[in-house]
Amino acid sequence: MNHFISIKKIQEYFSSSITSGLFNTIHDTSAVFYDFNHLFYKIELLSKAFPENTFHTTAIKANPLIKVLHEIKKIGFGSEAASEGELFIAQKAGFSNDKIVFDSPAKTHKELEYALKNDFHINADSIMELDRIAKLKESVKSKSNIGLRINPQVGYGKIKSTSLAGEYSKFGVPLKSHKQEILNCFKKYNWLTGIHLHIGSQGCEMKLLLNGIESGLKLIKEINELLKTDDREVSFIDIGGGLPISYYHNTKPPDIIDYGRKINDMLTSYDLDRLQIITEFGRYLHANSGFIVSKVEYVKHYEESNTLIIHSGADILLRECLNPNNWFHEFSIFDKAGRLKQNSETKKYHIAGPLCFANDIVARNIELPVANEGDYIVIHDTGGYTFSMWSKYVSRLFPKIIGIKNDSYELLRKREKLTNILDYWSD
Ligand code: LLP
Repeated sequence: MNHFISIKKIQEYFSSSITSGLFNTIHDTSAVFYDFNHLFYKIELLSKAFPENTFHTTAIKANPLIKVLHEIKKIGFGSEAASEGELFIAQKAGFSNDKIVFDSPAKTHKELEYALKNDFHINADSIMELDRIAKLKESVKSKSNIGLRINPQVGYGKIKSTSLAGEYSKFGVPLKSHKQEILNCFKKYNWLTGIHLHIGSQGCEMKLLLNGIESGLKLIKEINELLKTDDREVSFIDIGGGLPISYYHNTKPPDIIDYGRKINDMLTSYDLDRLQIITEFGRYLHANSGFIVSKVEYVKHYEESNTLIIHSGADILLRECLNPNNWFHEFSIFDKAGRLKQNSETKKYHIAGPLCFANDIVARNIELPVANEGDYIVIHDTGGYTFSMWSKYVSRLFPKIIGIKNDSYELLRKREKLTNILDYWSD
């Protein structure tokens, strides 16, 4: 299994882009490369892992590039939107309305009305939101499938800031204290047909994710029992995303085939084979499918430290800079022509970004072949939750994004211009 884009491929992609001029060595101080071949490979594994009637979506927040979404749409997957902006993007990328899952935690009346009118699939985050939907449904005709997000309270993963199923969570209805209220909602609203849960992102071991899903299935059994007299039953469980990937190239990530099989076995053991599964993976699909290339602008040698100043910092790697104990990337170094540097002489470097604050450091004390001004640092596994979390702080230009599909290269997004910055900060 190829969990990562190989260094050989990275060299091929980068050096070919320099030769063709797609990567402009004068203007492109950094760029993101996105490998569709790797994405397709992940999609194939995911499709194999789950039952055929599973409805797979991509979490737009991990990678909102229209051309990426468009390819995912062509394969027949749907998309998970967490805001009005993401809904708009999903529609523009060509997803049909029944393939759009609307999951925002802060849906306004107007957004809910729009979602209902357009028959999007909606997961309500609270009972308060269900009540809003009920009111709207008095006057809006809709074929939307509607689910309720629960917090199964199975515990935190290793990264607290991306864990959503602890005792307290801003997500979902807490199951322990509110089971009866949840059951009441299913009895009261005959249009409520599913359960949604999202345990967290990265840092959640497979066992924790499975515990969360199992809590959801047990709840569904109880709901079905209650709805028997009405001849109704829960029709879907949306398991969110969260399967961790590996950022360490010597470590294997959890196996998606094994994950799918275990979920399937649980459905069978709870006699819930008819239940449709919905998935919302983001990181699993995208993170290993991209890398960043960033020019070494300065090499600062002092007695006690060596620092490489590059053009990618907390603007594109927000979590890694602000919370470095939890986030990690592998780094490589390439020369001006895009060839991997493999000299036997190495040095320890801090790699610092271009922003004006102390923690704008993407790696500390890492051993690399000796670096020169004008070389390029490659930051591996940055295809998800990097440029999608872009920060405008210090008004730097959003980098070019280059896509590779089979052997062809295309621009997925232009590098920003100074006028874009002016527009952003103007009225
Ligand atoms: N579904 C829902 C409702 C979510 O909130 C998320 C991610 C996903 C699906 C996708 O999860 P994934 O498969 O990508 O783990 N680097 C970011 C990650 C936050 C993820 C939030 N939700 C951060 O540090 O904030």
